[in-house]
Amino acid sequence: MCGIVGYIGTKIATDILISGLERLEYRGYDSAGIATVLEGKITCIRAKGKLFNLREKLENQVNPSQIGIGHTRWATHGKPEERNAHPHLDMNEKVAVVQNGIIENYRELRQELTLKGCKFLSDTDTEVIPHLIASYLSESSSLLEAVQKAITHLTGAFAIAVIGADYPDELIVARQQAPLILGLGQGEFFCASDITALIPHTHAVVTLDNGEIARLTPLGLEIYNFEGDRIKKQPRTLNWSPMLVEKQGFRHYMLKEIHEQPSVVRTCLEAYVNGAWNAERHPDFSPINLGLPAHFYDDLQRVDILACGTSWHAALIGKYLLEQVTGIPTNVHYASEYRYAPAPITPNTLTIGVTQSGETADTLAAIEMEKDRRNLLEKQFQPRLLGITNRPESSIVHAVDHIINLHADIEIGVAATKTFLAQVMAFYCLTLDLAYHRRSLPLERLQEIIEQLYKLPFAIETLIQEQEKKIEQLAHEFAETKDFIFLGRGINFPIALEGALKLKEISYIHAEGYPAGEMKHGPIALLDSKVPVVTIAMPGKVYEKALSNAQEAKARDARLIGVTSMNQKEAETIFNDILVVPEVEELLSPILTVIPLQLLAYYIAARRGLDVDQPRNLAKSVTVE
Ligand code: G6P
Repeated sequence: MCGIVGYIGTKIATDILISGLERLEYRGYDSAGIATVLEGKITCIRAKGKLFNLREKLENQVNPSQIGIGHTRWATHGKPEERNAHPHLDMNEKVAVVQNGIIENYRELRQELTLKGCKFLSDTDTEVIPHLIASYLSESSSLLEAVQKAITHLTGAFAIAVIGADYPDELIVARQQAPLILGLGQGEFFCASDITALIPHTHAVVTLDNGEIARLTPLGLEIYNFEGDRIKKQPRTLNWSPMLVEKQGFRHYMLKEIHEQPSVVRTCLEAYVNGAWNAERHPDFSPINLGLPAHFYDDLQRVDILACGTSWHAALIGKYLLEQVTGIPTNVHYASEYRYAPAPITPNTLTIGVTQSGETADTLAAIEMEKDRRNLLEKQFQPRLLGITNRPESSIVHAVDHIINLHADIEIGVAATKTFLAQVMAFYCLTLDLAYHRRSLPLERLQEIIEQLYKLPFAIETLIQEQEKKIEQLAHEFAETKDFIFLGRGINFPIALEGALKLKEISYIHAEGYPAGEMKHGPIALLDSKVPVVTIAMPGKVYEKALSNAQEAKARDARLIGVTSMNQKEAETIFNDILVVPEVEELLSPILTVIPLQLLAYYIAARRGLDVDQPRNLAKSVTVE
């Protein structure tokens, strides 16, 4: 979503801002801009569309300024046009502001400011901020003080960075419910909405928390709370390598990330599974070590999972596992719905927020809401909050008691692939741990499942090696297709949903995922020879059922694509095209069945010549409601 970068130091600000914005491109945006200060004047340059357009405008401009702010905008209030792009300035061009978030009371503020004579040039909520700050400048001793006064008027979620024409040595940032990270260099300081923009410059970072405001100068960093009290914070050292944000020879980040999945599974097993565990020799401790607080396990009666998008699909697999393996009733909620219509409170409930970015506004708000309402009640209703995230430095970490870190390294492609797989792995680990503690599985069976999990990385490698070329070829045939149906049952129903989501996100082809048994209740009306049907049919409990649903589609002339490990001959009698998956027990099959669907979506989108890593209208991390 909107990206912020800021710089103050001894280097040319424009270069650092542009390279920072490039590293934020993956978050999704539709316009961009930068503002710098030089000799008492703010220079602001903005452009609609991709950064390329902004770079073109900056060509041949000599600007030695050493302080500036930059922004990539994902339109919320006001169309993606240049006049709505950030930074925004006050009327006298004394203050420039970039913002990520939504100022909920901007209409009232705009009215008040208009009555006082302010002229607005954009349709955005953000533009009220520079006007407000400017109105306080004359009665303030510093830019910091004026920003402090201005933000007391703002309601909503926001992260801002501010510069002033008459303050060449001050960059002010503030945060309320939207991410902002500060980077510390040698005689230079940075701010960004995402660590990726900081990695090339520094590994020493401080995360700004809600209700904090900071002044960055070439000499140092001062952090205050909104009430004006000074706060001391120790920087953390990141162990990220700049290589993590390179494509490393792949055509797109998404393809690289699909290929990284064997190592994602390996890393998860290394992090959370005690490889030396043996049912006979070690019956007294869990084979899984997630470091969960002891009270999470006490008389656990229910699990509620809150998530959005792909994370919601991973949560559905979690539900299947938790209910079928441990017997704990589990519900999965869209976070955006739950925050306004929560389920009735039940005792001894574990609430899990699943969010790869750790910054999705709805998921954070739903978790906070759950925490608040439970904190008012007696002990058995008290919150037990767990986060599943790939970003241990993100906001979710502050909202929950404990996190399961996905350790999947940064994901740049907007369409989640490896983080989905890592989330699913986290649910396998959680399920096995709870199964151990509740004795819902014999220890020998636990051991058997763990042994199979260890075989999965190699199985994914084999799958990619053997199927990728074939899927690339097959994708050519669907370059003009308008609709797709994905069917799955049981534990593979969420994979049908995920396959459909991947395809629509990056190829803009309409796709629907359905539980195969539901096809007759609606989607079957859509079928004809032009609508391919992808059916996941893995040997197990619902194998025959899924196959007969596929036959129903075939009888309506649909082209049938099977994701299966069945023997080739048999598969050929049913499916027109077969995406072969190595043999695996049904319970673990989603780890494999999702891979061909990711590849299919990728190659169809690439074939259509689309911007696979940054699909239109989508954002990697949705930090507004
Ligand atoms: C956006 C992304 C999706 C992602 C969803 C939830 O819509 O485009 O890929 O699944 O947000 O994100 P989260 O970071 O909470 O998992």
